[in-house]
Amino acid sequence: MSAESLGERSRPRADASPTRLLFVCLGNICRSPTAEGVMRALVQREGLAESIQLDSAGTGAWHVGSRPDARARQAAQARGITLEGSARQIRAEDFLEFDLLVAMDAENLRDLRRLALGEDGRAKVRRLREFDPVSAAIGDLDVPDPYYGADGGFDRVFELVQAACEGLLEHVRAGLHT
Ligand code: 4NP
Repeated sequence: MSAESLGERSRPRADASPTRLLFVCLGNICRSPTAEGVMRALVQREGLAESIQLDSAGTGAWHVGSRPDARARQAAQARGITLEGSARQIRAEDFLEFDLLVAMDAENLRDLRRLALGEDGRAKVRRLREFDPVSAAIGDLDVPDPYYGADGGFDRVFELVQAACEGLLEHVRAGLHT
């Protein structure tokens, strides 16, 4: 096998600019920091930290500056993932600076499409579970808001996010070669 077929084609080009993903929920303390943490672990596992950059934000401003919710941190920590960062609100530049804005539910999707100034921005907005083939097949595309629910909701969020982030990684990785 040539060097190319052995290795180079399975890795992003060294000169390619990174792909930037922004995970978005309502408060940026439960679902989107979970998605960011899960995706960061996958990206690091695959040695793609230089090629895929991640952040998260909320459509609302109530929790700006707060750490991820303790229940979300606990659900993630139980699976070996530490949630980091502090909440921020989505801003207009995000639609220019990120390649994909990944919404957690239909409300986030609608709010982001409304905030995007043009068709280019709107085209960057997707829902996370679109990238999980099982979720897409059954048409169940929301990561439910766990904030006011029972604690078990955070485990469910983690599992939905984990499955979808695996699919999202494959989607992004395919794009890195084009
Ligand atoms: P998140 O959860 O959108 O997944 O971060 C929520 C956090 C806070 C609120 C709602 C949802 N809240 O209403 O304060």
